[in-house]
Amino acid sequence: MSTDPTAAAATPTSPSTDLPDDATVAALRALAEDLATEAGALVRDGRPDRVEVAATKSSAVDPVTEMDRASEELLRERIAAARPDDGMLGEEGSDVAGTSGLTWVVDPIDGTVNYLYGVASYAVSVAVVAGPPDPARWTVLAGAVHSVVDGRTWTAARGQGATRDGRPLRVNQPAELGACLVGTGFGYAASRRADQARVLTHVLPRVRDIRRLGSAAIDLCLLAEGSLDLYYERGLNPWDLAAGALVAAEAGAAVTGLRGEPAGSTMTVAGAAPRVAELVRLLEEAGADGPAEGR
Ligand code: IPD
Ligand code: CA
Repeated sequence: MSTDPTAAAATPTSPSTDLPDDATVAALRALAEDLATEAGALVRDGRPDRVEVAATKSSAVDPVTEMDRASEELLRERIAAARPDDGMLGEEGSDVAGTSGLTWVVDPIDGTVNYLYGVASYAVSVAVVAGPPDPARWTVLAGAVHSVVDGRTWTAARGQGATRDGRPLRVNQPAELGACLVGTGFGYAASRRADQARVLTHVLPRVRDIRRLGSAAIDLCLLAEGSLDLYYERGLNPWDLAAGALVAAEAGAAVTGLRGEPAGSTMTVAGAAPRVAELVRLLEEAGADGPAEGR
Protein backbone atom coordinates (compact mmCIF):
# COMPACT_ATOMS: atom_id res chain seq x y z
CA MET A 1 0.00 0.00 0.00
CA SER A 2 1.31 3.41 -0.86
CA THR A 3 0.37 6.44 1.19
CA ASP A 4 1.01 10.10 1.54
CA PRO A 5 3.03 10.41 4.77
CA THR A 6 1.74 13.92 5.35
CA ALA A 7 -1.75 12.43 5.79
CA ALA A 8 -0.66 11.37 9.28
CA ALA A 9 1.35 14.48 10.01
CA ALA A 10 -1.03 16.64 11.98
CA THR A 11 -2.05 14.02 14.58
CA PRO A 12 -5.46 15.32 15.67
CA THR A 13 -6.45 13.70 18.94
CA SER A 14 -9.80 12.45 20.12
CA PRO A 15 -10.77 14.62 23.12
CA SER A 16 -11.79 11.79 25.47
CA THR A 17 -8.54 9.80 25.34
CA ASP A 18 -5.76 12.06 24.14
CA LEU A 19 -4.95 9.38 21.59
CA PRO A 20 -4.94 10.19 17.87
CA ASP A 21 -8.33 9.80 16.19
CA ASP A 22 -9.21 6.77 14.05
CA ALA A 23 -8.34 8.38 10.73
CA THR A 24 -4.92 9.37 12.02
CA VAL A 25 -4.32 5.89 13.41
CA ALA A 26 -5.28 4.42 10.02
CA ALA A 27 -2.78 6.75 8.31
CA LEU A 28 -0.09 5.73 10.82
CA ARG A 29 -0.79 2.08 9.96
CA ALA A 30 -0.34 2.81 6.25
CA LEU A 31 2.89 4.65 6.98
CA ALA A 32 4.16 1.76 9.14
CA GLU A 33 3.43 -0.61 6.26
CA ASP A 34 5.25 1.59 3.75
CA LEU A 35 8.27 1.93 6.05
CA ALA A 36 8.52 -1.81 6.77
CA THR A 37 8.11 -2.66 3.10
CA GLU A 38 10.74 -0.18 1.92
CA ALA A 39 13.28 -1.30 4.54
CA GLY A 40 12.41 -4.91 3.67
CA ALA A 41 13.30 -4.27 0.01
CA LEU A 42 16.68 -2.90 1.11
CA VAL A 43 17.31 -5.97 3.28
CA ARG A 44 16.25 -8.37 0.51
CA ASP A 45 18.03 -6.72 -2.43
CA GLY A 46 21.20 -5.97 -0.49
CA ARG A 47 21.79 -9.39 1.04
CA PRO A 48 25.17 -10.74 -0.09
CA ASP A 49 25.61 -14.47 -0.66
CA ARG A 50 27.71 -14.65 2.48
CA VAL A 51 26.62 -12.33 5.26
CA GLU A 52 29.36 -11.18 7.63
CA VAL A 53 28.89 -10.44 11.32
CA ALA A 54 29.77 -6.76 11.86
CA ALA A 55 29.69 -6.92 15.66
CA THR A 56 28.17 -8.81 18.54
CA LYS A 57 25.98 -7.38 21.29
CA SER A 58 24.75 -9.08 24.46
CA SER A 59 26.73 -12.28 23.87
CA ALA A 60 29.04 -13.83 21.28
CA VAL A 61 26.01 -15.37 19.53
CA ASP A 62 23.97 -12.11 19.37
CA PRO A 63 25.06 -10.74 15.98
CA VAL A 64 24.69 -7.39 14.22
CA THR A 65 25.20 -7.16 10.47
CA GLU A 66 25.79 -4.12 8.28
CA MET A 67 22.24 -4.62 7.01
CA ASP A 68 20.75 -4.29 10.51
CA ARG A 69 22.41 -0.87 10.65
CA ALA A 70 21.52 0.16 7.09
CA SER A 71 17.87 -0.82 7.54
CA GLU A 72 17.61 1.14 10.79
CA GLU A 73 19.31 4.14 9.17
CA LEU A 74 16.77 4.09 6.35
CA LEU A 75 13.90 3.88 8.84
CA ARG A 76 15.38 6.75 10.86
CA GLU A 77 15.63 8.98 7.79
CA ARG A 78 12.12 8.18 6.57
CA ILE A 79 10.52 8.69 9.99
CA ALA A 80 12.35 11.99 10.52
CA ALA A 81 11.11 13.18 7.11
CA ALA A 82 7.49 12.04 7.48
CA ARG A 83 6.97 12.60 11.21
CA PRO A 84 9.62 15.07 12.47
CA ASP A 85 7.98 15.55 15.88
CA ASP A 86 7.81 11.86 16.76
CA GLY A 87 10.41 9.93 18.73
CA MET A 88 12.10 6.73 17.62
CA LEU A 89 13.48 3.69 19.43
CA GLY A 90 15.37 1.10 17.41
CA GLU A 91 17.32 -2.06 18.19
CA GLU A 92 20.55 -0.76 16.67
CA GLY A 93 20.76 2.31 18.88
CA SER A 94 18.19 4.85 17.70
CA ASP A 95 16.82 6.62 20.74
CA VAL A 96 15.23 9.88 19.70
CA ALA A 97 12.90 11.68 22.10
CA GLY A 98 10.09 13.37 20.21
CA THR A 99 7.71 16.12 21.19
CA SER A 100 4.44 14.68 19.83
CA GLY A 101 3.98 11.96 22.46
CA LEU A 102 4.32 9.28 19.76
CA THR A 103 7.36 7.05 19.31
CA TRP A 104 8.24 4.71 16.45
CA VAL A 105 9.57 1.41 17.80
CA VAL A 106 11.45 -0.47 15.09
CA ASP A 107 13.39 -3.66 14.62
CA PRO A 108 15.36 -3.26 11.36
CA ILE A 109 15.81 -7.05 11.11
CA ASP A 110 13.95 -9.30 13.53
CA GLY A 111 15.53 -12.69 13.10
CA THR A 112 19.09 -11.58 12.47
CA VAL A 113 20.48 -15.09 13.01
CA ASN A 114 18.15 -16.35 10.26
CA TYR A 115 19.30 -13.49 8.01
CA LEU A 116 22.90 -14.43 8.70
CA TYR A 117 22.38 -18.08 7.80
CA GLY A 118 19.88 -17.57 4.95
CA VAL A 119 16.97 -19.18 6.81
CA ALA A 120 13.87 -17.54 5.36
CA SER A 121 12.18 -16.28 8.54
CA TYR A 122 13.22 -12.67 9.17
CA ALA A 123 11.28 -9.43 9.10
CA VAL A 124 11.27 -5.68 9.46
CA SER A 125 9.02 -4.63 12.34
CA VAL A 126 7.68 -1.07 12.62
CA ALA A 127 5.23 0.18 15.25
CA VAL A 128 4.14 3.54 16.58
CA VAL A 129 3.19 3.88 20.23
CA ALA A 130 1.62 6.58 22.37
CA GLY A 131 3.26 7.17 25.74
CA PRO A 132 6.70 5.97 26.77
CA PRO A 133 8.23 3.25 24.54
CA ASP A 134 7.88 0.73 27.36
CA PRO A 135 5.58 -2.29 26.96
CA ALA A 136 4.21 -1.81 30.50
CA ARG A 137 3.11 1.77 29.80
CA TRP A 138 2.63 2.29 26.08
CA THR A 139 -0.47 2.14 23.90
CA VAL A 140 0.50 0.64 20.55
CA LEU A 141 -1.43 2.52 17.87
CA ALA A 142 -0.34 0.84 14.66
CA GLY A 143 2.23 -1.61 13.38
CA ALA A 144 3.50 -3.56 10.41
CA VAL A 145 5.66 -6.66 10.12
CA HIS A 146 7.12 -7.34 6.66
CA SER A 147 8.54 -10.81 6.06
CA VAL A 148 11.53 -10.03 3.88
CA VAL A 149 11.96 -13.22 1.87
CA ASP A 150 8.37 -13.87 0.79
CA GLY A 151 6.89 -10.37 1.12
CA ARG A 152 4.03 -11.31 3.46
CA THR A 153 3.01 -8.18 5.34
CA TRP A 154 0.90 -8.10 8.48
CA THR A 155 -0.51 -4.81 9.72
CA ALA A 156 -2.79 -3.68 12.51
CA ALA A 157 -4.26 -0.50 13.91
CA ARG A 158 -5.65 -0.14 17.40
CA GLY A 159 -9.38 -0.90 17.32
CA GLN A 160 -9.31 -1.43 13.55
CA GLY A 161 -8.29 -5.08 13.21
CA ALA A 162 -5.33 -6.95 11.78
CA THR A 163 -4.67 -8.10 8.24
CA ARG A 164 -2.13 -10.06 6.25
CA ASP A 165 -1.84 -8.63 2.74
CA GLY A 166 -5.32 -7.14 3.19
CA ARG A 167 -7.00 -10.30 4.53
CA PRO A 168 -8.55 -9.98 8.02
CA LEU A 169 -7.04 -12.23 10.68
CA ARG A 170 -8.52 -14.21 13.60
CA VAL A 171 -6.62 -16.34 16.08
CA ASN A 172 -7.46 -20.03 16.50
CA GLN A 173 -9.71 -21.09 19.37
CA PRO A 174 -8.30 -24.52 20.25
CA ALA A 175 -10.40 -26.54 22.71
CA GLU A 176 -7.55 -27.66 24.93
CA LEU A 177 -3.93 -26.91 25.74
CA GLY A 178 -2.87 -30.41 24.70
CA ALA A 179 -3.95 -29.66 21.12
CA CYS A 180 -1.98 -26.42 20.83
CA LEU A 181 0.97 -25.76 18.52
CA VAL A 182 3.13 -23.38 20.54
CA GLY A 183 5.75 -20.95 19.25
CA THR A 184 8.57 -19.77 21.48
CA GLY A 185 12.09 -18.41 21.34
CA PHE A 186 15.28 -18.30 23.35
CA GLY A 187 17.58 -15.53 24.50
CA TYR A 188 21.26 -15.01 23.69
CA ALA A 189 22.84 -15.65 27.12
CA ALA A 190 23.80 -19.23 28.02
CA SER A 191 22.32 -19.03 31.53
CA ARG A 192 19.02 -17.67 30.19
CA ARG A 193 18.90 -20.41 27.58
CA ALA A 194 19.55 -23.11 30.17
CA ASP A 195 16.59 -21.86 32.18
CA GLN A 196 14.41 -21.64 29.05
CA ALA A 197 15.31 -25.27 28.30
CA ARG A 198 14.25 -26.23 31.83
CA VAL A 199 10.90 -24.45 31.41
CA LEU A 200 10.43 -26.17 28.05
CA THR A 201 10.49 -29.57 29.79
CA HIS A 202 7.33 -28.47 31.63
CA VAL A 203 5.58 -27.15 28.52
CA LEU A 204 6.47 -29.64 25.77
CA PRO A 205 4.80 -32.73 27.31
CA ARG A 206 1.55 -30.77 27.76
CA VAL A 207 1.08 -29.32 24.24
CA ARG A 208 0.87 -30.62 20.66
CA ASP A 209 4.38 -29.47 19.78
CA ILE A 210 6.78 -26.53 19.83
CA ARG A 211 8.07 -24.31 17.00
CA ARG A 212 11.18 -22.11 17.31
CA LEU A 213 11.22 -20.13 14.09
CA GLY A 214 13.64 -17.35 15.05
CA SER A 215 11.67 -14.11 14.68
CA ALA A 216 9.39 -13.08 17.52
CA ALA A 217 7.61 -10.57 15.28
CA ILE A 218 6.75 -13.24 12.70
CA ASP A 219 5.78 -15.69 15.48
CA LEU A 220 3.19 -13.24 16.79
CA CYS A 221 1.83 -12.64 13.28
CA LEU A 222 1.63 -16.39 12.59
CA LEU A 223 -0.34 -16.70 15.82
CA ALA A 224 -2.67 -13.95 14.57
CA GLU A 225 -3.44 -15.85 11.37
CA GLY A 226 -3.86 -19.25 12.99
CA SER A 227 -0.53 -20.84 12.02
CA LEU A 228 0.35 -21.13 15.71
CA ASP A 229 -2.13 -21.59 18.58
CA LEU A 230 -0.05 -20.06 21.35
CA TYR A 231 3.21 -18.17 21.75
CA TYR A 232 5.36 -17.45 24.77
CA GLU A 233 8.81 -16.02 25.23
CA ARG A 234 10.93 -14.49 27.94
CA GLY A 235 13.38 -11.67 27.21
CA LEU A 236 11.66 -9.82 24.37
CA ASN A 237 12.70 -6.23 23.77
CA PRO A 238 10.20 -3.49 22.92
CA TRP A 239 11.13 -3.65 19.20
CA ASP A 240 10.62 -7.43 19.03
CA LEU A 241 7.15 -7.08 20.44
CA ALA A 242 5.47 -3.80 19.55
CA ALA A 243 4.06 -4.46 16.08
CA GLY A 244 3.54 -8.22 16.40
CA ALA A 245 1.70 -7.97 19.72
CA LEU A 246 -0.74 -5.45 18.21
CA VAL A 247 -1.32 -7.70 15.19
CA ALA A 248 -2.03 -10.60 17.56
CA ALA A 249 -4.29 -8.55 19.85
CA GLU A 250 -6.26 -7.10 16.95
CA ALA A 251 -6.76 -10.65 15.66
CA GLY A 252 -8.42 -11.50 18.97
CA ALA A 253 -5.48 -12.76 21.03
CA ALA A 254 -5.03 -12.20 24.72
CA VAL A 255 -1.48 -10.86 25.13
CA THR A 256 -0.17 -10.81 28.68
CA GLY A 257 2.66 -11.50 31.09
CA LEU A 258 2.71 -13.67 34.21
CA ARG A 259 1.21 -12.91 37.65
CA GLY A 260 -1.08 -10.19 36.31
CA GLU A 261 1.73 -8.22 34.70
CA PRO A 262 1.46 -6.89 31.14
CA ALA A 263 3.40 -8.57 28.34
CA GLY A 264 7.03 -7.49 28.24
CA SER A 265 10.57 -8.56 28.81
CA THR A 266 9.84 -10.82 31.79
CA MET A 267 7.32 -12.83 29.79
CA THR A 268 5.00 -12.50 26.83
CA VAL A 269 2.19 -15.03 26.36
CA ALA A 270 -0.33 -14.74 23.48
CA GLY A 271 -3.23 -16.72 22.07
CA ALA A 272 -6.92 -17.44 22.68
CA ALA A 273 -7.74 -16.24 26.21
CA PRO A 274 -8.71 -19.59 27.84
CA ARG A 275 -5.58 -21.33 26.53
CA VAL A 276 -3.39 -18.37 27.50
CA ALA A 277 -4.74 -18.66 31.05
CA GLU A 278 -3.68 -22.34 31.14
CA LEU A 279 -0.25 -21.64 29.68
CA VAL A 280 0.29 -18.75 32.10
CA ARG A 281 -0.52 -21.09 35.00
CA LEU A 282 1.94 -23.66 33.66
CA LEU A 283 4.69 -21.08 33.21
CA GLU A 284 4.09 -19.65 36.67
CA GLU A 285 4.27 -23.13 38.21
CA ALA A 286 7.53 -23.72 36.33
CA GLY A 287 8.96 -20.43 37.65
CA ALA A 288 9.54 -19.26 34.08
CA ASP A 289 9.98 -15.71 35.36
CA GLY A 290 12.45 -16.68 38.07
CA PRO A 291 16.00 -15.39 38.37
CA ALA A 292 18.16 -16.00 35.29
CA GLU A 293 21.07 -13.92 34.12
CA GLY A 294 21.40 -12.27 30.71
CA ARG A 295 18.89 -11.71 27.93
C1 IPD B 1 15.32 -12.17 18.24
C2 IPD B 1 14.26 -12.97 17.53
C3 IPD B 1 14.13 -14.33 18.16
C4 IPD B 1 13.82 -14.25 19.62
C5 IPD B 1 14.85 -13.41 20.34
C6 IPD B 1 14.97 -12.04 19.68
P1 IPD B 1 16.70 -10.36 16.83
O1 IPD B 1 15.41 -10.87 17.69
O2 IPD B 1 13.02 -12.29 17.60
O3 IPD B 1 13.08 -15.08 17.58
O4 IPD B 1 13.81 -15.55 20.15
O5 IPD B 1 14.40 -13.25 21.67
O6 IPD B 1 15.97 -11.28 20.35
O7 IPD B 1 17.88 -10.38 17.75
O8 IPD B 1 16.85 -11.29 15.70
O9 IPD B 1 16.29 -9.00 16.41
CA1 CA C 1 16.91 -7.17 15.31
